[in-house]
Amino acid sequence: MRITFLGPPGSGKGTQAEKLSAEFDIPHISTGDILRNSITKQTEIGRKVKSYVESGRLVPDGVVLDLVLGEARQMESFVMDGFPRTLVQAERLDEIAPIEISVFFEISEATVVARLTGRRICPVCGRVYNLSGDRAVAKERCDECSVSLVIREDDQENIVRRRIEIYKEETLPLREYYRKKGVLRRLSAEGTPDTVYRRLKRTLLEDDSLKI
Ligand code: AP5
Ligand code: MG
Repeated sequence: MRITFLGPPGSGKGTQAEKLSAEFDIPHISTGDILRNSITKQTEIGRKVKSYVESGRLVPDGVVLDLVLGEARQMESFVMDGFPRTLVQAERLDEIAPIEISVFFEISEATVVARLTGRRICPVCGRVYNLSGDRAVAKERCDECSVSLVIREDDQENIVRRRIEIYKEETLPLREYYRKKGVLRRLSAEGTPDTVYRRLKRTLLEDDSLKI
């Protein structure tokens, strides 16, 4: 099953994709993670995309398409998070690996701003902590590595707001694109990660013919 997760920054696409990937053994492709890894490793692509990612702007279509399409072409199943983000990306992906379900995460702007400005990451193991939400723990160091947690460059509030605006302009129109193709599923992304995951599985399994 070829699935995409779309939704505003901070709506929990990555968190839910990891859960689904682990339970059903489906490969998880996250363009944000691929791009951040390239930046950390200072590859040629990393140097090219750094200023886009850190300032919250979309990386040019050509660069992202080159990273994703080769891999997607060879896979019968995947869950993609953060791709496609523009109409051009959606059309190119459908040409080589037609999407069977596109889940749109729906959530209030206030919740995503709180989640993103509250996110802290361990620079060594990548573990994610969050200072917002019901089970928030105000931590300064990673439980595993004991190093100081860091804030993702693009999680500063002014950049978060820019990412939300770009999402509305460039990515939200894809909801109509996938609705017309008959593959759209809408998901309320409010609530705890486990609550959202239960809802997600119900949404994915509502069509009996689907096998994830
Ligand atoms: P990307 O990494 O894709 O970022 P994003 O989609 O903007 O947002 P996030 O990854 O922050 O949010 P998410 O929805 O995955 O939520 P998460 O699970 O992490 O992209 C980054 C940048 O790369 C882009 O701005 C662009 O520059 C570039 N890029 C990437 N793809 C591109 C493309 N296709 N084209 C062009 N450019 C591209 O959760 C967020 C936080 O909330 C975490 O702390 C998490 O622990 C917490 N959380 C999650 N779920 C819950 C919950 N239910 N309750 C409480 N807290 C929760
Ligand atoms: Mg993500």
